[in-house]
Formats: sequence, structure tokens, C-alpha cells
Amino acid sequence: MDIVVYPDSVLKEIAEPVENIDSEIQGIIDRMADLMYSNSGIGLAANQVGIPKRIIIFDINYRENQRDLNVLINPVILSAEDKIVYEEGCLSVPYFNGKINRKKNIKVQGLNRDGNLIDIDAEDLTAICIQHEIDHLDGVLILDHVSALKRNMYKKKIKNLIKKDKNG
Ligand code: NI
Repeated sequence: MDIVVYPDSVLKEIAEPVENIDSEIQGIIDRMADLMYSNSGIGLAANQVGIPKRIIIFDINYRENQRDLNVLINPVILSAEDKIVYEEGCLSVPYFNGKINRKKNIKVQGLNRDGNLIDIDAEDLTAICIQHEIDHLDGVLILDHVSALKRNMYKKKIKNLIKKDKNG
């Protein structure tokens, strides 16, 4: 398992709901967690490891030795209020940061790793992170939230990096 980066097409896919939380799904979650912590990420969606299923994980403290992992399977945002703007990055969109408009307070519902229904009231960075990860499940990247100018500059930059890579 590895982190998939732009422009891989799986990042544009709409992830499928998880039907059964079995040992295979739990194994995916555990490997995603190891990958997130080893990359010092605060959140990860299954699309980002090439698996278009509706699974997100997050831990805004991101310290490997003090894990406080949150898992949401088939997450749904029940309510969202107030605005917040934050400079976001993404493990799947290297060399890019952008100021993104989000909701400051959200209520989200989903299943945890054991298949129990949970509700989370999230605010600030946690709320931002959950919205960012749910975006991934809908094939949306932070690039889709910034201006066309900024997006096109990034696309050009990545194209050049890929070209350089191919030429050795
Ligand atoms: Ni991301």
C-alpha cells in the first residue's frame, strides 16, 4: 500500500459505500493508519491508497507514539455551520498549499472500525480535516477548491516534473 498522488485517476473516483466491515476492511484501515502516521498526515481517505471505498481516518495530533485514531466508514455530514478559511495541503497533492473555505462546525455520522454507528461533533481543524477527507471520497481535491489560475499553474508544474522524471 502506498499513497497515490495527483494526477492518478483513482483520486477522481467517487468511492463506493462499504457493505461489510470484515477483517479485510479492518486490515485496510490499519495499513492506512500506519501510512498516515509515517507520512505525518492528519487524515487519509481510502481513495488515496488506491481503494475507492468510503473510509476515512484522521488524527489531528498525528503523533505516531500517541495515536488517537478516528475511523469513519460511510461518513455523512448531518449539519454544517459557520465559515472558516485555512491553508490546506494534501499528501496526494505534493508541493501544493491553498486557502480553502470550509465549515467551522459540523456534525458527522458514520461507522467506526467495529461497525458501530458513531456521531462526531467537530470544530476547527478537526472539522476541516473531515470535510477534506470526505471530499476525497467524492473525487474532490483541494485543487478543485482554488482558482483556475492557481490550479493550472500546479498542473503545469506537475507535468514538467513528470517530464523531467521520464528524461532521467
Ligand atoms: Ni487530502
